[in-house]
Amino acid sequence: MNLDAKVNKKDLNWAELGFRYHKTDFRFSAVHSNGKWNDGELISDEIIAVHEGAPAIHYAQQCFEGLKAQTAADGRILLFRPDLNSERLNLAASRLLMPEVPRAMFLNAVAQTVRANYAWVPPYGSGASLYIRPMLIGIGENLGLKPAQQFEFRIFVSPVGPYYKEAGLAVISLAVSEMDRAAPNGTGCFKVGANYAGGLLATRKAQELGANEALYLDSAQHRYIDEAGSANIVIAMKDGGFVTPSSKAILPSITRRSIMEIAAQQLHLQTTERPIDLRAEVADFSEMAACGTAAVLSPVGKIWFDDQWHTIFADGQSVGPIMQEIYDLLVGIQKGELTDQYGWLHEVNI
Ligand SMILES: Cc1ncc(COP(=O)(O)O)c(C=O)c1O
Repeated sequence: MNLDAKVNKKDLNWAELGFRYHKTDFRFSAVHSNGKWNDGELISDEIIAVHEGAPAIHYAQQCFEGLKAQTAADGRILLFRPDLNSERLNLAASRLLMPEVPRAMFLNAVAQTVRANYAWVPPYGSGASLYIRPMLIGIGENLGLKPAQQFEFRIFVSPVGPYYKEAGLAVISLAVSEMDRAAPNGTGCFKVGANYAGGLLATRKAQELGANEALYLDSAQHRYIDEAGSANIVIAMKDGGFVTPSSKAILPSITRRSIMEIAAQQLHLQTTERPIDLRAEVADFSEMAACGTAAVLSPVGKIWFDDQWHTIFADGQSVGPIMQEIYDLLVGIQKGELTDQYGWLHEVNI
């Protein structure tokens, strides 16, 4: 595809985009049947027509991923660690008895979809990015509780702005949920839709309390921090340590993994993954943040639990110096402004 001056960017108000679906021109679709994937193709129809008995619809036999493409100052289109999304999708696929999507097929399909929707990739400096949603669903006729015989791998993209309202670094608040997100030996560590439906009510209740999101504690004791509704948690401790929960029930966030490396290697902090007892340790928190592809790094100003707000940093509305520094380093790498010393970026050839 020759995309030079012939492809004009869409006339969108990039700076005002929320985290919403915008229909773009192309999506990728491949089907697995009789034990193998077809080649897949780019299509324009955003509607998926599946059988009314499809296991994806009844038994949530589906998983998905989320990653972003950004435009660098020199016009390159950059993906952030897409190989890890491929790996994580395949872990979920195996857990739900779905066929794996070969890594080369995944990366190729992501690149094709981004390339075909080049006009929708937000320009450098707009504060927006192209969100990429790969998904794997069990389709085809079925009734009883058993795996599908056919699967669709689809990728759609949508230009998006910040997940939380304000642009850049938004300070958020979390409310501890009385509901559980996932069980220790359940599917909490996989990115499967089944984990998210139950979270809708928890999120609504958190928002009714004035928080942005629910914060889940471990389901056995309601004591240790698990994660937020759509993001992992990282905490700078007053003793200089930098910690994140170890839990079998949380999604292993690619953003978190990257932040832990940045904190250790560039801020020279002592990083640890360990159980974090919220009530016992909150007084020792210096700064806290939620992190993920959508949330990027969002400092947590205050948390609601035991019928009151607990302020984490300063007035509960300011960004602390450690989270600011990590945010600048992470976003700088993602946008191609800083040297990618880790080899995290993957350029989409246009
Ligand atoms: C439940 C949950 N935790 C954490 C994350 C963050 O993961 P990542 O950094 O890989 O986007 C997400 C979504 O992206 C999520 O849905």
